[in-house]
Amino acid sequence: MKQVWRSSRPQTSRGPRVRGPEEDHQRGGTVPPSWEELSIAPKERSPSSYGAEARGGCSGVPAGSAGSQLCQRGPGLRLYPTPRKGPSRATGARPRQSATRSEPLQSRLHGSTGLRSGSQANFFPPLEDAMLPSGSFNNRMALITGGGTGLGRAMTATLSQLGAQCIIASRKLDVLQRTAEEISSQTGNKVHAVQCDVRDPQAVSQCVDQIEALTGLPDVIINNAAGNFVCPSERLSPNAWKTITDIVLNGTAFVTLELGKRLIQNQKGASFLAITTIYAESGSGFVVPSASAKAGVEALYKSLAAEWGRYGHRFNIIQPGPIRTKGAFSRLDPTGAFEKAMIDRIPTGRLGTPAEIANLAAYVSSNYASWMSGAVIRFDGGEYVSLAGEFNELRSVTPDQWKLLEAMIRKTKGS
Ligand SMILES: NC(=O)c1ccc[n+]([C@@H]2O[C@H](COP(=O)([O-])OP(=O)(O)OC[C@H]3O[C@@H](n4cnc5c(N)ncnc54)[C@H](OP(=O)(O)O)[C@@H]3O)[C@@H](O)[C@H]2O)c1
Repeated sequence: MKQVWRSSRPQTSRGPRVRGPEEDHQRGGTVPPSWEELSIAPKERSPSSYGAEARGGCSGVPAGSAGSQLCQRGPGLRLYPTPRKGPSRATGARPRQSATRSEPLQSRLHGSTGLRSGSQANFFPPLEDAMLPSGSFNNRMALITGGGTGLGRAMTATLSQLGAQCIIASRKLDVLQRTAEEISSQTGNKVHAVQCDVRDPQAVSQCVDQIEALTGLPDVIINNAAGNFVCPSERLSPNAWKTITDIVLNGTAFVTLELGKRLIQNQKGASFLAITTIYAESGSGFVVPSASAKAGVEALYKSLAAEWGRYGHRFNIIQPGPIRTKGAFSRLDPTGAFEKAMIDRIPTGRLGTPAEIANLAAYVSSNYASWMSGAVIRFDGGEYVSLAGEFNELRSVTPDQWKLLEAMIRKTKGS
């Protein structure tokens, strides 16, 4: 009897069921033909052209029309989601509205993000209000290294809004003081600014002395300070290597060990959180000192999660994907060209926002997460898996090209 395979599309009366490409790939057999073989050049895509196709390519279905969450192009092929205008399925929130509602507060507290995005970002509007109940950090002290700018500033703003007394520490005292005043005046909770170069163990020890005098030892420690820049590895000087690894790995270790020892002596528990990056796991060319140091930070935190639970300490890690901050983007994407490519490959179609990661950091550092230790949380809109899957490029195949591909695959005989 002729073997009949399940098709990826609903069966019509037009013929026997046939094997779909997906199944072939699962069976480890078939590699898709090249574009030359298909004689169809793939369309050049930019984030906006991707969006244009999602909107305009399916002209039979008005984008966002009721009941048209999936756009059909050709019989039974449902490939391109159209932007939903109604409430988000996941959150019940209306895209845009919630962002607009919280904009004044967010721009005051976290700074405006000025997001550029692909059309599928409409499915994933950032909800930026503080997620935890107000008062979740009442009577708690939080140290945030690098808290004067970027993501550290956003985390400080959220913790302060939720009742924490925050201490922000880094090298530039004027920046720290400005941030501390701005956040304190908006939340009504004191934010202290303490100068500290985390590369210097003596400076770290003096900083912790100062913190003890100001607030007592903290309940929450967020190791967020970092340095990074893009550079071919053959151009790296020993000094460049040392600077980055000193800030990221040694700095995190000095802060963690100094506070850890004093907390242990005082029999006080604490939540430690390290901000690393998605390439701490995979490694990445052109940011090798950072990748190496962040991987070290992750090993440090996972090790201490195992060792210091007995002292009441939790250790967790957040790996952010791209979130535009002046500090990170000016050194990693100085021309802005890279950002477009990033958005194109992020399944949620946009960068993250500082307020979103601040909510996650607040949750991980709160007592709601008191059972969480040794966790590595990737927070990247799907970028990591999008980069990893070797067939993910097939997102750019059009429905017409899929018809051709499917026809070619069906014709394949034998192994
Ligand atoms: N934004 C992203 O897309 C992204 C993605 C993945 C991971 N991350 C991570 O997120 C964290 C925050 O980055 P960001 O984007 O917010 O960049 P940022 O604004 O440049 O923050 C870095 C902070 O580190 C402080 N710092 C640098 N060297 C220091 C030192 N020697 N001692 C003490 N503090 C020092 C800086 O303050 P001073 O200059 O005053 O010292 C600054 O406040 C970093 O760990 C970064 O690796 C960010």
